[in-house]
Amino acid sequence: MSHPAAGSDTTGRADQGVPFDLLVRHGTVIDGTRSPRFDADLGVRDARIVFVGSVDEASAQAARTCIEARGRIVAPGFIDCHTHDDTALLTDPQMTPKVSQGVTTVVTGNCGISIAPVPRGLPKPTPAPLDLLDASGGGAFIYRSFAAYLDALRASPAAINTAALVGHTTLRAATMSALDRPANAQEIAEMRELLEQSMAAGAIGASSGLFYEPAAAAPAEEVIAVFEPMRRLGGIYCAHMRDEGEHIVESIDETLRIGRELGVTALISHHKVAGMANFGRSAETLPLIAQRMLEQRVCLDCYPYAASSTMLSESRAVMASKVLIASSYPHPEYDGRDLDEVIAEMGLPRAQVIEKLLPASAIYFAMHEDDVRRILAFPDTMIGSDGIPLGGNPHPRLWGTFPRVLGLYSRELGLFPLETAVYKMTGLTARNFGLADRGELRVGAFADITVFDAATVRDAADFQHSTQKARGIDAVIVNGALVWQDGQGTGARPGRVLTRA
Ligand code: ZN
Ligand code: CU
Repeated sequence: MSHPAAGSDTTGRADQGVPFDLLVRHGTVIDGTRSPRFDADLGVRDARIVFVGSVDEASAQAARTCIEARGRIVAPGFIDCHTHDDTALLTDPQMTPKVSQGVTTVVTGNCGISIAPVPRGLPKPTPAPLDLLDASGGGAFIYRSFAAYLDALRASPAAINTAALVGHTTLRAATMSALDRPANAQEIAEMRELLEQSMAAGAIGASSGLFYEPAAAAPAEEVIAVFEPMRRLGGIYCAHMRDEGEHIVESIDETLRIGRELGVTALISHHKVAGMANFGRSAETLPLIAQRMLEQRVCLDCYPYAASSTMLSESRAVMASKVLIASSYPHPEYDGRDLDEVIAEMGLPRAQVIEKLLPASAIYFAMHEDDVRRILAFPDTMIGSDGIPLGGNPHPRLWGTFPRVLGLYSRELGLFPLETAVYKMTGLTARNFGLADRGELRVGAFADITVFDAATVRDAADFQHSTQKARGIDAVIVNGALVWQDGQGTGARPGRVLTRA
């Protein structure tokens, strides 16, 4: 069946005898807009989709590369809107944890932490949570400016595209002598200057992480003052909120106030209600968010797990029913172990054990599955992994997020149709972030494409074996180039730096 929006080239022939660079043939297209699926061939030339429809045999034969997709879903490449891949893009450019899931674009610089601009007086060892970007403890923060970071990405591209946020916590570390107080006028002026330079260099917006110690002393007024250039320049404001537990409603208010005063879209990152006392409260937060969406631009993302992950800390550990060590820089032998078991083995008080393991990251079981499902099912929720590419036992969301939403939450649990699942990781995300010609399959759009098997797609990573490749992802194409096929990377690195439309 052909689709009403089918190709500009209605004959189905490659025009003027110029063959397609790539043809994805016989697949079932889910185009990223939430429209019902339809059968079509996709023709690609010069990194863009130039044909959607039914191609003739001669053109099919002439195509330089042909992907047979019969019985498969052909979708826009997934956009991981919440990552900490700032460093990994350069140190591990194949980006296997993401490419193997069908991800073709990552948004970096979340939770207030970005790898650039370089913190001037960065203390050693790198303070948490900045150390999440710096596994080796001080060697990763080398980009003098945001432009230098984006230039490095362009000079040594990854397999997938990058859209980068600049982080408020990084700006604080770059300008302030002490982080346990609000910034003064001079420091705010310096941060604002760096923010403006970063946006001019190509940052798509800015993030804050007021929850974390190096930014917790900052009032909303500081964030508004530092991000003030966004009033003119636009961009998106992404918040790891001050509180995702008892005071979550106040934190939503604070986040939306910052977005409103800047006149930009406010994004609530990894929306969750944490801590047993707060189980069920997504029934309160989601209607509040829906209400506020009528008044201002608000969006949110979520990862499909009832456990969170960030640095190891005692205050966090007491909130959780169970804690797994994800990575420990001095003691990698404990990666993957249950913290309580390690405490018993060492025979030391909890605080002392944690002290020994630092710098370290952990997995905390402190959410209820019902809240996770309610948040995922909320129509405006995007999918973002919040994966942390560190250590021997990262949270499985790093390798499993997208196939898990497709396989577990859509196919097995029926939380939403496949078209909706795809929309939450493609079209919705591209629109919210202002990424032009991404996230949809249509003539003129960039050829970021994921081919998968709707019957088998599923995450394989779990909390015990967390670095397993997902099943059912057949082929992944970035800017018209194949980066994943037959269960492995092709070695191609066609990723680009994406800036706002
Ligand atoms: Zn966060
Ligand atoms: Cu994060």
